[in-house]
Amino acid sequence: MTEKLIIHGGKALRGEVEISGAKNSVLKLMAACLLTGDSIELRNVPHLSDVVVMTQVLKHLGCDVDQQDDDRVYIQARNITSVEAPYDLVRKMRASFDVLGSLLGRFGEARVALPGGCSIGKRSVDLHVKGLIALGAEVEINHGYVEAKAAKLIGAEILLDTPSVGATENIMLAATMAEGSTIISNAAQEPEIVDLANFLNAMGADISGAGTNELLINGVKPSAMHGTTYTVMPDRIEAATYMMAGVGTRGDVTVNNVLPVHLSSLTHKLQEMGADIEMPTPNTMRIRCNQRLQAQNIVTQPFPGFPTDLQAPFMALLSIADGVSIVKETIYENRFKQVGELKRMGADIAVERDVAVVTGVPHLSGAEVNAHDLRAGAAMVIAGVQAEGTTQVYDLYHLDRGYEHIVEKMQSIGADIQRVPDTSERSTVPEDAV
Ligand code: UD1
Repeated sequence: MTEKLIIHGGKALRGEVEISGAKNSVLKLMAACLLTGDSIELRNVPHLSDVVVMTQVLKHLGCDVDQQDDDRVYIQARNITSVEAPYDLVRKMRASFDVLGSLLGRFGEARVALPGGCSIGKRSVDLHVKGLIALGAEVEINHGYVEAKAAKLIGAEILLDTPSVGATENIMLAATMAEGSTIISNAAQEPEIVDLANFLNAMGADISGAGTNELLINGVKPSAMHGTTYTVMPDRIEAATYMMAGVGTRGDVTVNNVLPVHLSSLTHKLQEMGADIEMPTPNTMRIRCNQRLQAQNIVTQPFPGFPTDLQAPFMALLSIADGVSIVKETIYENRFKQVGELKRMGADIAVERDVAVVTGVPHLSGAEVNAHDLRAGAAMVIAGVQAEGTTQVYDLYHLDRGYEHIVEKMQSIGADIQRVPDTSERSTVPEDAV
């Protein structure tokens, strides 16, 4: 039975929310566990459907994976029985493509399905493949699979055309046990890259420069890699979502277990819009606002710029801000799926190619809307708590990919939100998304 959200909006949200471990980090850490036969303990692991999919991928390869009821997962890749990640798993989640670098790095071969069609843009994997070829792998694309082989990988200098997060990660994973040193220039600088590098170093790797645009990976011997215990970084996108829900309702919300430096591009914008932000502790942010937010322009950029993953949720805020805002999406070609739904709620938004012009309206009105992808779904929840009247959000499987206990967490800050069975006849086939 599928489910939907029912949100009665218009109430100021107040209270504290515990932020979970980062989806976009934990999936890569799980892929990295393939680089040793020893047992790994990951902590602060969120209960998300994407984590379930990555668990299925690792189990398919022969790993032991044991997710506890709390936030721990134990992973051991001692008895790997296959180096193939099949299409029916990879299509559900693009991040599973990261097992390519780990499998190639440890076993010298891998066969991983191409992620396939995607709802938010072309999302090619050409940079992943070019990087692995530069390390000495032979790579062929046959029957929808990337097939990579290498008797040995040799360190290389790799310049990425664009600072792709996934390509940086896949190359790091493959280069960890390569012979010699690898330099990745124009590397992604996202906090999740730093988390992966820290984790790999805790496993015995020798990686420096993470968080800058140049990564140095000194290849280590396989015997240098070992088990470890590691705590996943906080989810900056989840934290931002609750901060925006608070400020959009003119409320007072505190997010706990965050790293404020990860959120700077958002917090600067929110302050310029009129929000008051404090850091009562180094891992806590309190955001308040008791007036209408002012319009604000954003351009999505790789980190430390404004994250594309926050573009849709931020547009829900802009929909009721005072004035006209311009939103330019530079990372993906098709990431304005929230626009039609926000317009159903009364927003005034015009889109021309990669630019949306948002003219703030005094208020949104509740409506039936779709969560077309993960972050568009977050936008619908923010719009729903801001709106007058009742909003129903469908296709929740997108939200379940990236938001742990979203209903309970929203309720804990006073939102009137419930999850109920959706008895309407709707598609339930998840699309590949972020
Ligand atoms: C990751 C995040 C996603 C976020 C994105 C950008 C995960 C699971 N997902 O996705 O939430 O929106 O970073 O911050 O961590 N590209 C190419 N060729 C390639 C690879 C990428 O052209 O080989 C393009 C893509 O089409 C896209 C852009 O580069 O337009 C950014 O993609 P990338 O940084 O690789 O994003 P992901 O790692 O897929």
